[in-house]
Amino acid sequence: MLTKRKILVGVSGGIAAYKAAEVISRLRKLHAQVHVVMTKSATEFITPLTLQSLSSNPVYVDLFDAPKRWNIEHIALAEHVDAVIIAPATANVLAKMAIGLADDFLSTVLLATRAPIFVAPAMNHAMYHHPATQTNLALLKDRGIHVIGPDTGFQACGTDGEGRMSEPVKIIESLAGFFAGSDCLKGKKALVTAGGTQEPLDPVRYLGNRSSGRMGYAIAQALQEAGAETILVSAPTDLPTPHGVKRISVQTAQEMYHVVLELFLEMDVVIKAAAVADYRPAYEAEQKIKKTGAGYTLELVPNPDILAELGRKKTSQVLIGFAAETENLLANAQDKLQKKNVNLLVANDITKPGAGFGSATNIVSFLFPDGRKIDLPQMSKLEVARHLVREIAKILGIETKE
Ligand code: PMT
Repeated sequence: MLTKRKILVGVSGGIAAYKAAEVISRLRKLHAQVHVVMTKSATEFITPLTLQSLSSNPVYVDLFDAPKRWNIEHIALAEHVDAVIIAPATANVLAKMAIGLADDFLSTVLLATRAPIFVAPAMNHAMYHHPATQTNLALLKDRGIHVIGPDTGFQACGTDGEGRMSEPVKIIESLAGFFAGSDCLKGKKALVTAGGTQEPLDPVRYLGNRSSGRMGYAIAQALQEAGAETILVSAPTDLPTPHGVKRISVQTAQEMYHVVLELFLEMDVVIKAAAVADYRPAYEAEQKIKKTGAGYTLELVPNPDILAELGRKKTSQVLIGFAAETENLLANAQDKLQKKNVNLLVANDITKPGAGFGSATNIVSFLFPDGRKIDLPQMSKLEVARHLVREIAKILGIETKE
C-alpha cells in the first residue's frame, strides 16, 4: 500500500522523537519515498543526520537555510507529498496546527499542504488530558486530521498514563490502512450536494435555512479520499472546497436542479446532503421591498424535488438521500426511502444536540430498502462521511478494509 507513496514525516520535540527513526526505516522498507521535516526542538533529541541517512533525503529544519532543492521548499514539499505523518506530535505542534500558526518549516508545510495529515500525539498524561489539548485534538479531528493513539503506559516522566506515542508499527498500519481504503472508489464518478439553498425575494433578501454545508463538504472529502472523481454542487457557504474536489456553486433549488440533472446520468454515485428549499417566492421583486407599516403576505410556489426526480430517472447510479427530521424520525425517513427510490437514506434527528445543522458532529442512522438499519453514535461529520463511503462501496460490490 505504501510503495512509491511520498510520505512527509514531521518530527517535533519530544522524547519519542527517537521512535521517528523506526517510523522512517519501516516506511523505507515498504518502498515509500520519505521526506523529513524536524522542529528545532526535535533536533535536541535526535540528529537530522540520522533521519537523513534513514530517509535518503535532505532533512528540513529551518525555513531560511533549507537545501535549495525546490523553488520554495516548504510550498513545493507541501504540494508534492501524498500524506503527512507527525510522529511524535507534541502538545505544542497540535496547538499550532489548531490555530494555524506558521512560524517554522514544519508548521508552514502543515498549513500549506492539502494532503491527508496523520498525527501521533506524544506527551505527559497531564498535558494530554488538559482541556486545551483535548479541544485542539477535537478541532483537528473535525478538520479531518487522522489521530493515531496515544497509547497508555510508562512515560518518560516516570509515571504511568495516557500519552505515550503509538508504536511505529501501529502508525505504519494506520497509514497503510488509509491507503488500502483510499482507492475503493477509484474510477468512479461521484456528485454530492451541500448547503442550504437561498430563494431570492428581492435584491436584498432571501428565504434560506440553517444548513452550514459541513455534512456535504465532509462527504465530498471522504469521496475524494476514496479515490472518486468528485463534484460538489454547493449552495452558498464559507467552507473551503476540499482538495481535489470540483465545486460548482449554485444559489437556488432550481439552479441545483439543473446542474444535478444535467450531470446525473454520467455519475456512479449521487448523494443529496443539501437542505433544499421546498418552496420559493412566487415572484422576485426587482427592487428592495419597502416597509409600509401594513402586514405583508408572501406567496410561495413549490420547488422541484430533485431527489425524487433522480429516483425516477435512476439507472445504475447509487443514489443516497438525507432526511432531516424534527419528529417521527424513523417513520418519516422510511417514507422518504420508499418514495424517493434511494439505495440508502441517512436519517438525522436534527433536534438532538450534536446532530444536524451547523454542528461539527452528527448522529445518524443508515436505512436500506431491504429493511436493514445501522445506527451510528455521535461522531464528526467526516467520520459519518467515511462510514457512508464504506456503505457505498459495499452497494457497488467493492470490498473495503473496515
Ligand atoms: O449542512 P450542515 O449544517 O452540516 O447540516 C447537515 C444537514 C442537516 C443539512 C444534513 O445532514 C441533512 O439532513 N440534509 C438534508 C436536509 C433536507 O433537506 O432534508 P429533507 O428531509 O427536507 O429532504 C430529504 C431529501 O430530499 C434530502 O436528501 C434533500 O437533499 C432532498 N430534497 C429535498 C427537497 C427538494 N426540493 N429537493 C431535494 O432533493
